[in-house]
Amino acid sequence: SIGVFDSGVGGLSILLEIQKLLPKETTLFVADQAFVPYGGKSKSQLLERVGKILEFFEEKEVKAVVAACNTATVYTIDEMRQKFKFPIIGTVPVVKTIAQHTKTKKIAIFSTPATARSVYLKKLIEKFAKGIHVERVGGSNLEELVEEGKIDSKETTKILKKHLLPLVENNIDAIALGCTHYPFLR
Ligand code: DGL
Repeated sequence: SIGVFDSGVGGLSILLEIQKLLPKETTLFVADQAFVPYGGKSKSQLLERVGKILEFFEEKEVKAVVAACNTATVYTIDEMRQKFKFPIIGTVPVVKTIAQHTKTKKIAIFSTPATARSVYLKKLIEKFAKGIHVERVGGSNLEELVEEGKIDSKETTKILKKHLLPLVENNIDAIALGCTHYPFLR
């Protein structure tokens, strides 16, 4: 099987696409809900936790692993690729794609605070969004609200408005959803 993991239900947004594209494959999904949110953890905490999940997948003899989590990918994928033999496919914010679609040359990457301040994201922006104004926005508590199913709640709407209205006012015309929990808030 193919192992897929995330801190929680966010990974389902990726899992569903994998199952659509590869209907004959068997998938094994780990939602690490005991440790959500990954966005509030340090690099060393994430390395330890993701290492344990990948050891579990190794025992299950998976042929590949998909990190269906931007935060886990940007903080652990290099180390994990050195440690494990199976291919590891990561998930990172779609900087390249939205940089090609913006007309105003102003874009935003909306992710967990940890991904927003990561060196990995900084490098992606330097590589794929040259000459484009990029705002990095770290969302507060959104993955917890998605985990609780509070997708249309007043609290969620309030947080989204706080983060996103200033972007609209600043003429930003494309926003990357850099956390796999966020497609549920699209
Ligand atoms: N779904 C994860 C991501 O893509 C993180 C959510 C969390 O903070 O646990 O970054």
